[in-house]
Amino acid sequence: MRNVAICGEGFKNLMSQAGTIETIEIEGVPVHCGLVQTSDIHFDRNAPDNEHKVLVKIRAFSCNYRDKSLILQMATRGQANSFYVVGSEFVGEVVDLGPAVPDLQPGDRVIGNGSYPKADVEGLMGGLPTNHGSKEYQAFHWAKLMKIPPAMPDEIAAVFPIGAQTTYSMIRKLTLQPGENVLVTAAKSNTSLFAINALKNWPVNVYATTTSLRFEDELRQMGVKRLVQIDPQQATFVENETLKQIAAEIGGFDAVIDPFFDLHLGKVVPVMASGGRYVTCGHHDQYSDFIGKDFGHPRWEVGPAMTAAILGNLHFIGNCIGQTDDLRRAIDDYAAGKLHVGLDSTFSQGQVGAFFARTYNDPARFGKVVYKYE
Ligand SMILES: NC(=O)c1ccc[n+]([C@@H]2O[C@H](COP(=O)([O-])OP(=O)(O)OC[C@H]3O[C@@H](n4cnc5c(N)ncnc54)[C@H](OP(=O)(O)O)[C@@H]3O)[C@@H](O)[C@H]2O)c1
Repeated sequence: MRNVAICGEGFKNLMSQAGTIETIEIEGVPVHCGLVQTSDIHFDRNAPDNEHKVLVKIRAFSCNYRDKSLILQMATRGQANSFYVVGSEFVGEVVDLGPAVPDLQPGDRVIGNGSYPKADVEGLMGGLPTNHGSKEYQAFHWAKLMKIPPAMPDEIAAVFPIGAQTTYSMIRKLTLQPGENVLVTAAKSNTSLFAINALKNWPVNVYATTTSLRFEDELRQMGVKRLVQIDPQQATFVENETLKQIAAEIGGFDAVIDPFFDLHLGKVVPVMASGGRYVTCGHHDQYSDFIGKDFGHPRWEVGPAMTAAILGNLHFIGNCIGQTDDLRRAIDDYAAGKLHVGLDSTFSQGQVGAFFARTYNDPARFGKVVYKYE
């Protein structure tokens, strides 16, 4: 079976004779990547361990921000003669299943259900079903999977669960009221693109910040009322005249969706409305340890941010993935034509290096990148 993998130097030399491994750079680090064949897995549906399990043949997968640090970790610290199989999202087809699996049958297409902190079955760990989503055959507990409707093509399904489940959960936690003003930071990040598309179903005003106006027209068409370019080197959003002016006009942002708290939390606090809610799902600096390079962003100070939060009665909300119902609502919205999903491009066969380069290196990327097994 096939796997898309990051390879150690020794493994690369072994495999590159077959011409399947190439080297690209991510964050200045050489990354050896390619298709690696491993032996098929044997699935015995009658084995007691497989009673609740589903054998899935992966049809397509995608990588996320979390994969980047795992890739760079393998590239800088991994064992020379080994390889690391990537992929945190996938779409696959049910091939076989144990006798206690409800509501699924061979031929159904499924995606991962990363319900967190709890899975829907007692004793089963919450969170993503796998960090090795490109492994072509895998067995999962049925509760880590979600059936998708025929209306959802493989390319969309392969980029859907993390963005959908996370942003539907973040929006749920914000308890948005009609007419409220919502600021989404890092507009072009996959998470924020998902959030902006999801917010179209809410009667709120959506504002967004970005480091470049490259996709201004597209973001406006997605419903962003005002897109504001920020200078990442500025210490606070009130130093940005446009943001300062918008905040003064609307009385501050009622809600903020921020994928990178280490970049933005302290900066955004001064432009929030009294009693405003802020939700975050992640941070930017996940790999400076591996690449030995400081990110160079001005660090915001906790003291002033917390003082402003106390005086403003602000609510800070953390969010990791979401619940099964968040994913289900997103799938229903997609099937009803109420949720657009931003897809950038699809790669296949020997285009592994091109897939990673587009996913992580290309400033022209707008939306998610898929690798599809033919
Ligand atoms: N915990 C969870 O459940 C969960 C789920 C999903 C994602 N996450 C987290 O969410 C975060 C975003 O992931 P993602 O895949 O959406 O990221 P992504 O697509 O890789 O984000 C890239 C975007 O970030 C912005 N950016 C990059 N460098 C910046 C800088 N120096 N200053 C300001 N903005 C910068 C840029 O957008 P602009 O030019 O538009 O600013 C860029 O296009 C990550 O921390 C990830 O781990 C967590």
